[in-house]
Amino acid sequence: MAVFHTIDLDFEEVGQGTPVVLLHGFPLNRSTWYPLIPFLKDKARLIMPDLRGFGRSPAGDEPSTMRLMAEDVAVLVRKLGLKKFIMAGHSMGGYISLAFAQAYPQHLCGLALVASMATDDSPEKRQARFKTIENVKKHGSEVLAKDMPLRLTSDVDLQKKLSEIIGGENPKAIINALKGMADRPDYTDVLPSIQSPTVIVAGQKDVVISKERIDVMVRLLQKNWVVEVPNGGHMPMMEAPETVANAIIDLIKMA
Ligand code: MLT
Repeated sequence: MAVFHTIDLDFEEVGQGTPVVLLHGFPLNRSTWYPLIPFLKDKARLIMPDLRGFGRSPAGDEPSTMRLMAEDVAVLVRKLGLKKFIMAGHSMGGYISLAFAQAYPQHLCGLALVASMATDDSPEKRQARFKTIENVKKHGSEVLAKDMPLRLTSDVDLQKKLSEIIGGENPKAIINALKGMADRPDYTDVLPSIQSPTVIVAGQKDVVISKERIDVMVRLLQKNWVVEVPNGGHMPMMEAPETVANAIIDLIKMA
């Protein structure tokens, strides 16, 4: 049996109602979900962890595989005594949600994949990640803080905010997550087995997640629908929080 060296995640809980576990993207932290709070706090108990090494959570020494990060989340939900909940994952958080859905399908009563995908990295993307690892080893998180926000959104204020968040992240967490993402399996096979209703949130101007990759999820998930964010890039929950909150409210109604 696989042994996972899990980490106790730092997290925040806000609101009352159906439990919703929110998993942030790379190389960010739980604060990226804050814009949803005013729209959801009366309907949902929002549980927002910082994934290993990000925000206030300690980093591990090994690659942060999607399965290992899903195990960290499993430890957290066990600690909170949650049996059934909705999970929403942004980008890397979505990859982790699929690893979680594969390992613990009994816990999910709804899934939101926000600017995310089930397919694995292309060889070029994997190579690019290893190059980034070398750059981060030499120059720290600033390397990503400078250029990455430009790919995440066209909103200039948001780019500044994201740059601050990324610049403050631990290089070790960034390197471990890059190794984990490069190494992640293709989760396409998991999609047909997911029983819970699933909303796919897609920014129409997202340059990270292609339409082809969204189409794979639409084709293979049993009960799914797509919410498109017209001018959204890769950060829909910050660019159009009400739209993303409404998608989660629809999941709550079905839970
Ligand atoms: C993210 O937003 O989590 C990343 O862009 C995901 C990735 O690099 O695949």
